[in-house]
Amino acid sequence: MIRIDTSNLKGFLPQDWLSARAEKLAQARTWLKEGTGAGGTFTGWVHLPRDYDREEFARIKKAAAKIRSDSQALVVVGIGGSYLGARAVVELLRSSNYNLKHEDGPDIFFAGNGLSTDALLETIELVKDRDFSVNVISKSGTTTEPAVTFRIFKGLLEEKYGKEEARKRIYATTDAHKGALKGLADREGYETFVVPDAVGGRYSVLTAVGLLPIAAAGIDLDALMGGAAEAMEALSVPGLDNPAWQYAAARNALYDGGKSIEILVGYEPSFRSFAEWWKQLYGESEGKDGKGLFPASVEFTADLHSMGQYIQQGERLMFESVVRFGSSLGSFTIPEDPEDADGLNFLAGKPLSFVAEQAMRGTLLAHVDGGVPNLILEADRRDERTVGQLIYFFEYACGLSGYLLGVDPFDQPGVEAYKKNMYALLGKPGYEDRRAELEARL
Ligand code: PA5
Repeated sequence: MIRIDTSNLKGFLPQDWLSARAEKLAQARTWLKEGTGAGGTFTGWVHLPRDYDREEFARIKKAAAKIRSDSQALVVVGIGGSYLGARAVVELLRSSNYNLKHEDGPDIFFAGNGLSTDALLETIELVKDRDFSVNVISKSGTTTEPAVTFRIFKGLLEEKYGKEEARKRIYATTDAHKGALKGLADREGYETFVVPDAVGGRYSVLTAVGLLPIAAAGIDLDALMGGAAEAMEALSVPGLDNPAWQYAAARNALYDGGKSIEILVGYEPSFRSFAEWWKQLYGESEGKDGKGLFPASVEFTADLHSMGQYIQQGERLMFESVVRFGSSLGSFTIPEDPEDADGLNFLAGKPLSFVAEQAMRGTLLAHVDGGVPNLILEADRRDERTVGQLIYFFEYACGLSGYLLGVDPFDQPGVEAYKKNMYALLGKPGYEDRRAELEARL
């Protein structure tokens, strides 16, 4: 299970930082459990690891097996919560070099998560001469970036295979009833998977949104969901020793004490996309009503040689939440060099993980000494079960933390502002007045 070490917050927080929040945490727990707090209709993720749709789960595995057998590449079209979770899990459990490394199954390309012409052309170039399938993911079914991108890949598939075979290579993950994508999928006869009504985009990684691409990468869904279910059980128990309670309370107390940035620290390159998922989860859940910690992330030790300077001596705005995994998946011993020209023989025979451990310990003390509170989140070995636990831990703590902050952790009204302007400037019907107003300003 995920463990938390808050000993390095000492001196930065009042002694009662946790107990002072006990009542609010208990209230937040009830709101999450019963769906009775702000945004309560979007708490379907809370019991998802127990209550997920078994029939759909089996269909996801079947579709993934088909993709693995008939496709050299899978294009996952989606943005925000409709792609970050899948990417996070594939990279964390497989590798950030997944496409270069995997032995079976398809390469996975993420598309539709931006509007870069060059990125799109590159993905087309990489898949067009290979057997490929497409998983288009959009809860609303109307988001511009994936919608435009899907139109293009749908056209490519139909040109390559003909309409009938293309149809069998397209998997649509969307709302059960509404939206343009749902209509299109029904008309064309695509296999569809559901984003449950009660689960918002950033909490959807353990639904078909994340699970189909994750299974296509050969990852064990049962172990992943099993880990999440373990976390669900453990974290539902109220009490000040609950690690999610502690994490939520610590970030809330640090925020109240003047910190405005939380930096999620990872020591594995494969953790980078997981940190992107975490940033969306916390940024969209808490950044509203003029409040909220700004979620940032770094990868150490690489970023100690770039952002490390600011963290050590720049404005004292931040604290760090360090995610540590129990042990490396492999091992590497530093070799002896008879000439010792680099003077490193004092490390010969030691595992590289020993050097990493000392870097981690040294960094922690340096940053704490520099006025940056550190909290440590410890996870076991980097496998399916642990990652399932970690996902649920962060989701659950995010719900608690949003309620402590006094916001609705499940809406994202701010995301609409740019969309409305973009629709207006693109000339979408219905936005004529806004267009005239914006053009005049530009
Ligand atoms: O968390 C969210 O709700 C957003 O990030 C959405 O996931 C994102 O905007 C994509 O929306 P949709 O899945 O409707 O295309």
